[in-house]
Amino acid sequence: MASHTVTLIPGDGIGPETTAAMRRVVEASGADIAWEVAEAGAHLMAEHGTPLPASTVEAVKRNKVAIKGPVTTPVGTGFRSVNVALRKALDLYVCLRPVLSIPGAGGRYDDVDLVIVRENSEDLYAGVEFEAGSAAARKLIALCEEEGAGTIRPDSGISIKPISTAASERIVRYAFDYAEKHGRAQVTAVHKANIMKHTDGLFLRAARDVAAAREGGIAFDERIVDAFCMNMVADPAQFDVVVFPNLYGDIASDLAAGLVGGLGIAPGANIGDEYAVFEAVHGSAPDIAGQNKANPTAQVLSAAMMLDHLGELEAAERIRRAVRAVYAEGACLTGDIRKATGCDQLAASCTEFTDALIAAIGTLE
Ligand code: NAI
Ligand code: MG
Repeated sequence: MASHTVTLIPGDGIGPETTAAMRRVVEASGADIAWEVAEAGAHLMAEHGTPLPASTVEAVKRNKVAIKGPVTTPVGTGFRSVNVALRKALDLYVCLRPVLSIPGAGGRYDDVDLVIVRENSEDLYAGVEFEAGSAAARKLIALCEEEGAGTIRPDSGISIKPISTAASERIVRYAFDYAEKHGRAQVTAVHKANIMKHTDGLFLRAARDVAAAREGGIAFDERIVDAFCMNMVADPAQFDVVVFPNLYGDIASDLAAGLVGGLGIAPGANIGDEYAVFEAVHGSAPDIAGQNKANPTAQVLSAAMMLDHLGELEAAERIRRAVRAVYAEGACLTGDIRKATGCDQLAASCTEFTDALIAAIGTLE
């Protein structure tokens, strides 16, 4: 019997390609994993009436650990995001995204080593929305007038931004615990409390309270989100662990990925007290899906995070060393990286790059 059983959700778009590559690399790393494949994605709508069948959620609950490819969410209309639904169903309240420069990946900086800790359960991603012109939207608009809270145009759609003390304290505590466990020196909380006093203001107060109650010498710092973006682009090396409410954390993740070489190399995890689901930062990349062009590095590095979580530290490190070696060598890199590095050498396919990773694991022993 394998040492660990993991639920594998290939997803759609480039997901089946990047997860197949990931699976081959994990198998080459020496980790003993049994994969239980479960489906999610738009292609299930016709048969199941939902992009996230209950059996998929059950499979993750059974194995406690899952790794998934991206799933397409139609913009503006259609079903709600599968990713958001899964995070909700499993109470995965932490979104953890390490951002690390990989020499050779064409990043703007080669000294970035920060960790994004994003609140994953509330804020504008709570999914509480009212369509413009609906009875509920009209009621809310009337209530705002009545309370003297402000005038809202009658043809407005409304998204609710709930931010609670409990969830804010929980995520900031996680950021400090993570910093302590991984020998990091500083936690920065990012907010827009000057404008949104009752939501971001509450988040900031919770962060300050948690920071004040901590011992252990980890420094606490705070930034307003727009200034943070400028600071990130100008000097990302100043940040260590950075904790965000949901929306800013999502945006900052892509910003940070862009600084170190792009979405193709940015891994992540969704973590709760009981379950963990590992996935890249990027989406389903419909523009390159099915063409064997996707960069599987982000998915592969997400698997390394998963192996850390499972206690398979050596296999995880083997994968990370192989990634660094293939990028440092620079002979076999996918099109996104070729573009980022401005190199006109022929781009490797997803499969060729994966072969190079597996070969590197073999020679690094
Ligand atoms: P995206 O991340 O899929 O793509 C943005 C750009 O980056 C595209 O040009 C794409 O080709 C490129 N790219 C992304 N990953 C790449 C990789 N591994 N290798 C090479 N190039 C890569 O973002 P987009 O286009 O905004 O979203 C597409 C769909 O994905 C949407 O339906 C969105 O809702 C969904 N999505 C799903 C996520 C998830 O399942 N966790 C996360 C983010 C978006
Ligand atoms: Mg995102």
